[in-house]
Amino acid sequence: MDGIQIKTARMGDLDDAGRKAVVDVCADAFKMPEFYDLFSFLKPDNLHVMAYRDAVLIGHTVVSTRWMQPEGLSILCSAYIDAVAVASAEQGKGIGKGLMQHVASVITDYEIAGLETGVPGFYESVGWELWRGSLAGRGDDGLIPTPEQTGVMILRLPKTPALNLDGLLTIEDQKARIW
Ligand SMILES: CC(C)(COP(=O)(O)OP(=O)(O)OC[C@H]1O[C@@H](n2cnc3c(N)ncnc32)[C@H](O)[C@@H]1OP(=O)(O)O)[C@@H](O)C(=O)NCCC(=O)NCCS
Repeated sequence: MDGIQIKTARMGDLDDAGRKAVVDVCADAFKMPEFYDLFSFLKPDNLHVMAYRDAVLIGHTVVSTRWMQPEGLSILCSAYIDAVAVASAEQGKGIGKGLMQHVASVITDYEIAGLETGVPGFYESVGWELWRGSLAGRGDDGLIPTPEQTGVMILRLPKTPALNLDGLLTIEDQKARIW
């Protein structure tokens, strides 16, 4: 992480150039132009955590407040992590790890953190755990099971209560997506 600076900014405080840098780094890392729509899904209070080398954005993730409920517990105020991306030329140098360690340090007021991923090994290397139990959305008309969903992970934070990773985990249905 020598020469790397990590900064945070609320989505509402990013100017057009800042937003363009974010979608560029996501599209490059994921090789998916769909990231050019990222800002249509975000809210002004979403928190971006960004890594820079020489003032150039090379790593990014964004934190949203969501509401996960592990079986037997109340609904927990949850830091939900999306768009974790390291520029392709910078991958494998510890930048993703540094970014996720920084994220963990700025979400300590939340009761738990969550994300869904196709690369659980990366997150396990920074303390995240795969949810082993069943998963569902909480919709207006009740639970919406998501049996096809894999790769949902949680991070225990200082305020996280004792968890049973084999129980049911639910999250509010956002219509555009559940997990
Ligand atoms: C996944 C990604 C964020 C990792 O960032 P990175 O800077 O390349 O990773 P790091 O160099 O910090 O690696 C940290 C650890 O995770 C491991 N790791 C990295 N990528 C991994 C992967 N795809 N699968 C499993 N483990 C991985 C590394 O081996 C390293 O392990 P170590 O601490 O035991 O040495 C980055 O490669 C990326 O942007 N990929 C494309 C987009 C993507 O898949 N994002 C995540 C989707 S939710």
